[in-house]
Amino acid sequence: MAKQEDIFKNVVSHAKEYGFIFPSSEVYDGLSAVYDYAQNGVELKKNIREYWWKSMVQMNENIVGLDAAILMHPTTWKASGHVDAFNDPLIDNKDSKKRYRADVLVEEFAEKINQKAQKEIEKARARFGDAFNEEEFVTTNARVVEYLSKYKEILSRLAKGMTDDLQDVKALIEELEIADPETGSRNWTDVKQFNLMFGTKLGASADSAMDLYLRPETAQGIFVNFLNVQKSGRMKVPFGIAQTGKAFRNEIVARQFIFRMREFEQMEMQFFVRPGEEMKWYHHWKETRLKWHLSLGLGKENYRFHDHEKLAHYANAAADIEFNFPFGFKELEGIHSRTDFDLKAHEQFSGKKLQYFDPELNENYVPYVVETSVGLDRMFLAVFATSLKEETLEDGSTRTVLKLPSVLAPTKAAILPLVKKDGLPDIARTIIEDLKWDFTVAYDEKDAVGRRYRRQDALGTPFCITVDHQTIEDQTVTIRHRDTMKQDRVKISELKDIIENEVSTKNWLMKM
Ligand code: GAP
Repeated sequence: MAKQEDIFKNVVSHAKEYGFIFPSSEVYDGLSAVYDYAQNGVELKKNIREYWWKSMVQMNENIVGLDAAILMHPTTWKASGHVDAFNDPLIDNKDSKKRYRADVLVEEFAEKINQKAQKEIEKARARFGDAFNEEEFVTTNARVVEYLSKYKEILSRLAKGMTDDLQDVKALIEELEIADPETGSRNWTDVKQFNLMFGTKLGASADSAMDLYLRPETAQGIFVNFLNVQKSGRMKVPFGIAQTGKAFRNEIVARQFIFRMREFEQMEMQFFVRPGEEMKWYHHWKETRLKWHLSLGLGKENYRFHDHEKLAHYANAAADIEFNFPFGFKELEGIHSRTDFDLKAHEQFSGKKLQYFDPELNENYVPYVVETSVGLDRMFLAVFATSLKEETLEDGSTRTVLKLPSVLAPTKAAILPLVKKDGLPDIARTIIEDLKWDFTVAYDEKDAVGRRYRRQDALGTPFCITVDHQTIEDQTVTIRHRDTMKQDRVKISELKDIIENEVSTKNWLMKM
């Protein structure tokens, strides 16, 4: 556990030290759960967004893009259900005056019990070696059976309380003697619902100003534009509309760095299908989205599906793609079969028809929708945290290397003159002038070349190209590969193809 925490701390400090992510308005001590993407972070984030956009929009004839406004007519959020039901259950501690999500307090308590079971399992695995039978052990070892049944019982009582009566959640917190994590006090208020949308106002005068919300998801901008896009693009069902953009949620538990933020970015796609065909498309998108994640090569073992048993009122199937973050498996992306709920709700609230005429069936209908929704910041965290490695080299020294998928790396190549004289910087500059049309490249002449390699390793740059005295003679340079540290001598004229071959989106997406 301590190790996991250390890894996570390392991720946060590396992100800051190497110019990926800073706390927002840090000179004023920051703003809780709001972050800024710095010079390298913004490139990595842009590359992830583009990798998603290319696979969803550019590669699919029947998916088009959209960039809807963040501010929308307030009735949108009445129709979508967000005004009435986008709530978190809150509990305050009367002594510390601290506010918590009641469900998270219970989940964290339950997780500690689960961890005790997992520890026993790991101890037994180490003791019995290859002969260890986990399935048998978890059903026969009295202590593990007790821990796991307690764990499951707490989670199922929590789920019931969350749907039936929040007073039961309060009773559960009291029964389990859950204390304020910061002060140890058990003096709790009742559990209350708290709406997560940020309110704002449109208009100059206080009397006529209109109450608005900052959108809590990008999806509704797609739904209300469904017919505009279908008609103007002459789209035929099945077709999709994809969008990336900011969303805002007044999250109560906003720890875990960029995992849960108050201002974040989503990459969403709504796929409009014939009623009755939604399950076929739901399974298609579940598999397709997992393949997209796997194409980045972060390890198959780091992903799993979590199929929802309890469904939101608008869904008839839903699953999360969970990722193994430094703090355990958590939701990275949601795939939801949303039925015709959203379009029908907007028809009802707007009084306008949002229907499609299907020429093959010769009938009008409200399409069903399969949605894929992934958090861009969560993708960033998944990629960044998994790529950050401490390696011990053959000579016993260590290096910190960010083994980012090269297609996503902020800088594709650093060009390094071996020394700052003899015309080597000029040659390096010429190489940059040639490569910068196709790739983001950097120039670095400060410090010994070994230190410069280490700096680029920590930034995730896949290639270092060194210009030395031999370059003057024969127009060759050394190209060093970040992951293997292997160096090859190649012609300057070959550089573009070598880099392209390694970082091209096509080569990465072809792995899907
Ligand atoms: N339109 C569906 C929707 O918004 P969601 O499960 O609430 O569904 C989709 O959000 C994705 O957005 C999540 O899987 C997660 O990656 C990301 N996300 C949600 N809340 C977030 C937050 N507070 N901070 C960062 N990412 C978040």
